[in-house]
Amino acid sequence: MSDLLWQKDGVRVDARIMRFLAGDDVLLDREFLLHDITASKAHVAGLGRIDVLSADEVASITRELDALAEDFRNGDFILDDTHEDGHSAIEARLVDRLGDVGRKVHTGRSRNDQVLVATRLWLKERLDDLSDLCVAIAEVCLQRAGGESLPLPGYTHLQRAVVSSTAMWFAGFAEGFIDNAARARTTRDWLDANPLGTAAGYGVNLPLDRAYTTEALGFARMQVSPIYAQLSRGKFELGALDALASTLLDLRRLAWDLSLFTTAEFGFVRLPDEYTTGSSIMPNKRNPDVVEMLRASYAPVAAARVEIEQLLSLPSGYQRDLQLSKGSLWHGFTHGLRALDLMPDLLARMQWNGEAMRAAIEPSMHATDVAIEQAAAGVPFRTAYRAAAEAGSDTGSGRTPESSLTARVSPGGAAALGLEILHDRLKALKDKQREAH
Ligand code: ARG
Repeated sequence: MSDLLWQKDGVRVDARIMRFLAGDDVLLDREFLLHDITASKAHVAGLGRIDVLSADEVASITRELDALAEDFRNGDFILDDTHEDGHSAIEARLVDRLGDVGRKVHTGRSRNDQVLVATRLWLKERLDDLSDLCVAIAEVCLQRAGGESLPLPGYTHLQRAVVSSTAMWFAGFAEGFIDNAARARTTRDWLDANPLGTAAGYGVNLPLDRAYTTEALGFARMQVSPIYAQLSRGKFELGALDALASTLLDLRRLAWDLSLFTTAEFGFVRLPDEYTTGSSIMPNKRNPDVVEMLRASYAPVAAARVEIEQLLSLPSGYQRDLQLSKGSLWHGFTHGLRALDLMPDLLARMQWNGEAMRAAIEPSMHATDVAIEQAAAGVPFRTAYRAAAEAGSDTGSGRTPESSLTARVSPGGAAALGLEILHDRLKALKDKQREAH
């Protein structure tokens, strides 16, 4: 391992203990290194503005930081466990290239605000990804809801209930993913605060130009209190994971539907071939593995949430425990976003089997329509309900799924889907997103 930033003369560093402390943290820092470099540039420019660094020093350090970013992107610089962490690697490289000038980079900052700011920049990007993906999914769902619609059995308790339609199914998920996009955006705004310049968590005896670094890094506001900056570590990660988790809850239910609908017993949906796999032993199989993995994707996100929540049983101030939040955060987001990324294409190309769906709509599924019609004509609803129940499978005779759907005029129902309302909400979201980019 290269020299430790904090190493004291005469104190032996135990490799086993170091491995325990650093763990895979330095490897995880690969994900955050470019954000750390970006924030380091802002920090150095800020030091220039208060004359702690000369213009030449700022220029040299900035140049070397850019070169490091370039080398890292090309694979010419590899962040590995020869360093304690990404933060140390940046400083070591600057010292290596610039000597004493490099030794000035850490003036007025701590790894505690360094890791906070790098993670915060990363989180904002991931929440952008999340809202972009939710918008893309909602768009496909809305488009399909507005296209050809086929009767689909509507279930409650997994029992045949009332006639539904493929348009209603798509419209439901469209609205869900619009909500998810909106939540990702508000969460992004909520955590859009700059922690750089709070140092170890207590400020420093320099008039750091935090307003400048806030603006330079594109934050909406400064996170004012150094104490709160530390308190927000983990808390903000949890907020972001909450936005992701509620999205994946919708995805899980959607995937469940697809998993049921593709069974031979239902046979309502055919998935594009690439989304299915074969069996190693059963030549006849065409398995919906992708849909199952989509359904499972909530688990790593929920696990990440739980792990971070468990870590947060801490007093105020920086505690090393917080380091472990990085791995779960990365794992949760990587898995969750990868799953969502498949959805627009899958939803655009899945096919409904109209015949199988129609065959599963039995006459008794018109019973609710019949009872409500009579109630509208003046029969007390409970009386009409009993009559329809007694008529059993005769209730719906002479009715078609289409007649049920065209009469479903309650707002949001099959005859009044309200897609324009959803389109307007989606458009407003996209405008906001465009403004933010
Ligand atoms: N890897 C550390 C973390 O994620 C970086 C901050 C280390 N700070 C410290 N005071 N030891 O928390």
